[in-house]
This record gives sequence, C-alpha cells and structure tokens, in this order.
Amino acid sequence: MSGAGGGAGVSDLVLGIETSCDDTSVAVLENGRTLRSHLIAAQDVHRLYGGIVPELASRAHLELLPRLVARALEEADVRPADLTAIAVTHAPGLVGSLVVGLAFAKAWGAALHVPVIGVNHIEAHLHSASLEHGESPLPAVALIVSGGHTELVEVKGLGLYRWLGATLDDAAGEAYDKVAKRLGLGFPGGPILDRLAPTGRADAFSFPRPMLDRPGFDFSFSGLKTAVTVALKEKGPPPYDDALVADVAASFQAAVVETLVAKSLRAIEHTGARALNLGGGVACNRALRAALADACGRRDVALRIPSPRLCADNAAMIAQVGAWRLARGECSGPELDAVASLEASGLPLG
Ligand code: KG4
Ligand code: ZN
Repeated sequence: MSGAGGGAGVSDLVLGIETSCDDTSVAVLENGRTLRSHLIAAQDVHRLYGGIVPELASRAHLELLPRLVARALEEADVRPADLTAIAVTHAPGLVGSLVVGLAFAKAWGAALHVPVIGVNHIEAHLHSASLEHGESPLPAVALIVSGGHTELVEVKGLGLYRWLGATLDDAAGEAYDKVAKRLGLGFPGGPILDRLAPTGRADAFSFPRPMLDRPGFDFSFSGLKTAVTVALKEKGPPPYDDALVADVAASFQAAVVETLVAKSLRAIEHTGARALNLGGGVACNRALRAALADACGRRDVALRIPSPRLCADNAAMIAQVGAWRLARGECSGPELDAVASLEASGLPLG
C-alpha cells in the first residue's frame, strides 16, 4: 500500500466478489487500481416485500454469481488462468449471503491455485473513494452511511482506524426506508425521498436533530422515524396528498442531513482530517452531497465521494482492499469464514 492504498507493484489481476447483502457484484481489478470490469446485479425481487428477504437474497446470489463472474472475465478480457488472486467479502453481512460468495471464492481459488483473501465490507467502504479519486490525504475521516450502517471513522492508513461513532439504533438508510414505507412509498426509500424532498418545505415540520446537542460522534435515527409517525398519526394511513408527502420528505431529509453534516464536521475538527471520504448508498443523496461540499469547501478539506455505483455495495471496493492486503503479503487460510456482525468481524473498533 502507498498512503491509504494503491501500489501493488507487480502486475496483478484480482477477482473481487461481493455478496454480503442483496447485491451480487463482481469486479476484475488490475494492479490495485484499474478496473477492468465491474458488474452489479441488484435483486429487485425485494421490492415486492418492502425490504430484504435473506433467503431470497442467498438464492439469487447462487444463481447470479457464476454467470456474473463469467461475464466480468469476458468484459475484462481475462481468462480464469490469468487471475492472480480472489478477494471476497467475508464480513459483516447476512451469513447466508456471505457463504455463497465465500464458497465460490474458495472453490475457484483451489481450482486456479491462487490465493484467496477475505475482505471486511465496511473496511472496503472506508476506502472506496480511492478507486476514482486516488490516494486519500491522511488522516481522513470516513462517513459510511448505508441501509445497515452509519459509521464515522478516522482513517490513518490501511488497517489503521479509530472508530469515532456509529448509530445507536437505526442506520441512516434504514430511516429513509422506514419513513418512505410510512408514507406509502416504495423500497428502497432513500432515492424516492431524495427526489421528492426538493418539492417540499424543509420547515413544514420541526423534526428532531438526534444527538446533535450531545458530545461525541454517535447517531440515533429511530426517534426521528417515530417523530414522523407521530406527525402522520392524525392523517390516518396512506395514501396522502402529494404536498404532505413532499413536506415530510423535505423536513425529514433536512434533519438527517443536518445531523450527518454536523457530526462529520465535528469529527474532522477533532482529528485534524485533511479529507472526508464517503461510502454507502446514502452517500448518493444529493442534499447530503451538496451540504458536505459546501462545508468542506469552507474548511479546505478534500471531499471525496464515489460515483453512485461505488457508493453502494460493490465488488470493486472489495477487490481494491484485497489487492492492497495481498501486496503486503497477507492472505487468508482455509479457516476463512462468514461473520455476520461488525463487532465480531475483526476490525479494530476502538
Ligand atoms: O450501501 P447500500 O446500497 O446497501 C446497504 O445497505 O448495504 O445502501 C442502501 C441504502 C438504502 O437504505 C437506500 O434507501 C439508501 O441506501 N439510499 C439513499 C439514496 N440512495 C440509496 N438514501 C438517501 N438518498 C439516496 N439518494
Ligand atoms: Zn455496504
């Protein structure tokens, strides 16, 4: 690794595999930085149920993965025998989904006689901005905001992390999804509310800014979600008129964005960070991006936001961290296994 990443030194072709949740993704990464191919198959079946159904996710990974790998190799113009290693997400996530990717990676690793390296999904998000923006200035703060996680981390290099804060209850994306559901909108709710918010009044409801008045870097979004439910109670069940939906979307989003921006800035000041790296699906949010661009611009802090494909769950970021670790001589043994929780995943959360 050079800085927070890159610099594998020898020509290598790493196959990255990501199956931790509901997206099946495969990438071929050359020399730790050049994406030769990158495919993401979103499992739209979960929309029918208004949330992710783990059994359906693992079954879909089983069906999609072999075909995606074949396609990714074809698009990269790489033969299986050209691969020098396989990087696969081993934690955290849905165990039934993780094991599909792991079993595939181990079988291919054995057949091709190439090393397999297990990659932590959250660690991969911490560095995903480097795929497009290059090496990160250090120290950096990473804000990971997805359907399952809301984490603020100080990044001093590969493997050198200090956990600053996390959500005490719902993740930011989970709050978006639940509020959208409460409004009678579809799943996932984040992109829908992102689209609707500019059409409403952000001051129509005075929703709480959770934990903003408390010291530290933790978040809490379940009270905000409850405040939306209370505000809608007298209106009965959905459907609601468009103006009300737009006002709730705008007021809710303003509360989330203000909280995320304030805690990120607090973390930057606390650590003296020179960059803010974003990751996770909520990092696609236009209001969040704009507010952070404004705040970081005033402070001479580099704001590094991946493009939407690299914000969401993707194999490119897995291949990247895998390549960096392999370049350091690291590799996983046969004991590599799926781990569901971030706490048990082996990342230092201190
Ligand atoms: O990282 P991701 O694709 O998957 C995991 O959760 O791991 O994140 C999905 C989450 C969902 O909760 C979705 O509603 C949210 O990211 N999301 C957004 C936006 N796009 C996706 N939230 C707010 N604004 C968006 N534009
Ligand atoms: Zn993720």
